Amino acid sequence: MKDQSILCVDDDINLVNALKIILNNSNYRVFTASDGFEALDILKEKPIDIAIVDYKMPRMDGVELLKKIKELNQKVEVLILTGYGTISNAVECIKIGAFDYIIKPFRKDDIIKRIEKLSEARTETPVKDVTQPHYYKFDNLISKTAKMLEIRNTIVKIADNDSTVLILGETGTGKGEIAKAIHDCGKRTNKKFNIIDCASINPNLFESELFGHIKGSFTGASKDKIGLLKTTGEGTLFLDEIADIPKYIQVKLLRAIEEKELRPVGAIQHQKFSARIIAATNTNLYEAMKKDEFRKDLYYRLSVVSIEIPALRERKDDIPLLVDHFIKKFDKDRKLITGIADEALQVIMEYDWPGNVRELENCIERAFSLGVEGKIGADDLPYTIHTPDSCSNTVFSAGKGTMSDYEKEIILKALNASNGNKRQAARNLKIGIATLYRKIKRYNLN
Ligand SMILES: Nc1ncnc2c1ncn2[C@@H]1O[C@H](COP(=O)(O)OP(=O)(O)OP(=O)(O)O)[C@@H](O)[C@H]1O
Ligand SMILES: [Mg+2]
Repeated sequence: MKDQSILCVDDDINLVNALKIILNNSNYRVFTASDGFEALDILKEKPIDIAIVDYKMPRMDGVELLKKIKELNQKVEVLILTGYGTISNAVECIKIGAFDYIIKPFRKDDIIKRIEKLSEARTETPVKDVTQPHYYKFDNLISKTAKMLEIRNTIVKIADNDSTVLILGETGTGKGEIAKAIHDCGKRTNKKFNIIDCASINPNLFESELFGHIKGSFTGASKDKIGLLKTTGEGTLFLDEIADIPKYIQVKLLRAIEEKELRPVGAIQHQKFSARIIAATNTNLYEAMKKDEFRKDLYYRLSVVSIEIPALRERKDDIPLLVDHFIKKFDKDRKLITGIADEALQVIMEYDWPGNVRELENCIERAFSLGVEGKIGADDLPYTIHTPDSCSNTVFSAGKGTMSDYEKEIILKALNASNGNKRQAARNLKIGIATLYRKIKRYNLN
């Protein structure tokens, strides 16, 4: 028998019995109650660790019971059971202290996984405890799914050391946000956090940007320049879009990281530097290595710690919390938008989010710019979210699409998915950036 007692509360007796069997089979001690009052009686007598509470119950609903449980014993963790129709209310429950919510119907192994995660969190997760000094650093990193909580744990563990970190994930998954959290959680928090976007730097000036140069070392070098590795001091240098770093710099960067020293362009002497390096990319580095565009040795050196952020579609439970977070972010106390209607949330939950958190953020911001008031309704969401495949379907189903129509729609779709990021769209379309610009001009897509 595991050392955990679970109390299941639901007026649906079949569901309570099913939960009891599932949890007993996994060796948990289980108590059951059919309403809030019965649940509170049990809580007063038995040492309960976790309560699974239905949101909708007669006499005393889930919110009220949650509040009473917390008054009685702060340490009891509460999981809220909810249907799709009441997810937004379940999110409210998290704000007042529930650990998590589970959407009905759920699968047997899903509920066991949640409970196991919760048990782990109770015993070892430092980030769940808001009294931990690092906790508030995650205010901008909304996450509740197991994988994201694991990432939070990793961040806390590595924040204070000097190892290089490689952050991987599709566009808009929050790589920049995580790099900042690593910086903020550790000893560098009051030092500089410098970002270098490797994709946008002129390849000829890259070396000088990173390592600096001495006066006269090349045409235009009219005075000495200190590079970013050095000016970052003891802070963090975030190399964003690392896959775009020119090949000739890759070997120099590798050496610099290994030796913790650099040589400015034109200089003879090496200089020490102490910045921590964090790199990120949304490119498949394995493919780039296969094509010999990215050095394997640099990859291994950068990925001493590697953090892979799952796409938003793989962690949909984060969506309601993110929606709530962005509504607050854009509302700025004017209280124009009070929340999201359940049918709108359902549309949002069913969409695939190719542009990930950024696309979701833009979708909420759009509602503000449209002047929506009260709750965001399904009609306030962009057309593409309601009918994600509409572009290609209409061209073909109408049976009158020309090749150019099709190409135009595909490009529009890619631009939409990358939130207007042309470099990313070109990559997804597997065409060169210059080709993309040409086509945008030809089809007048600007
Ligand atoms: N977990 C999160 N909680 C709150 N906001 C988030 C989260 N993840 C991402 N965001 C927000 O989403 C937007 C995109 O995130 P970010 O720029 O970090 O993505 P990225 O992975 O670096 O994307 P790209 O590959 O296009 O550079 C930002 O506004 C960021 O603040
Ligand atoms: Mg980024």
